[in-house]
Amino acid sequence: MKKSQVIFSKYSPLMAVDTDLIGSDRKNIETPRVCSLCRCGESNYKPLCDGSHAQIGFDGEREDADKQELAYYRGKEITIVFDRYLCMGAGYCGELEAVFGTHDAPKYEPDAAPASEIITTIKKCPSGALSYIIDGEHFKNYYDKTRITVEKDGPLNCQGQITVIDDQESDVLLPDADHFTLCRCGGSKKKPVCDGSHQEKGFKG
Ligand code: FES
Repeated sequence: MKKSQVIFSKYSPLMAVDTDLIGSDRKNIETPRVCSLCRCGESNYKPLCDGSHAQIGFDGEREDADKQELAYYRGKEITIVFDRYLCMGAGYCGELEAVFGTHDAPKYEPDAAPASEIITTIKKCPSGALSYIIDGEHFKNYYDKTRITVEKDGPLNCQGQITVIDDQESDVLLPDADHFTLCRCGGSKKKPVCDGSHQEKGFKG
């Protein structure tokens, strides 16, 4: 499988290396081997960078000091693992309300539906916040293709073998599953990952 890198530095856009980039219209976007992806939210050429970050004084600082905190919800057949740090509120889990509850009243009931349904729902989560354990094995990698897909008015959905490199030595927590979401609106408090702030911000692009 293709291996890619995404590098983030202070004051700078995301540098994507060897990545297939798919637009929100699901069409391929032709890019050079190394390309700059907007993460300040202001580029006129989204998803690509046009240098606007320099004009607005974007610094890319992460504001939220939360640390990764895994919660385990053990059922008879399956254990649901939830990483609050990575959750960006995509809401697919709410499709299986008996197990995950609703946005306003979340819950985790691993015995409230067949394990196969829970797995199908967990695999829809783009952020990597949900994963599962069966027979002692932790499943969090599902993708056989490496690519970054632009979500309309939302983050960059990253899938496959993409290594995130912190070039600003900021000691931030980086995703370790094969899927995660990177902020491109500039508003996340957990940069470089998306925290759902694009919705409150009314980000368009
Ligand atoms: S894209 Fe910025 S918080 Fe989601």
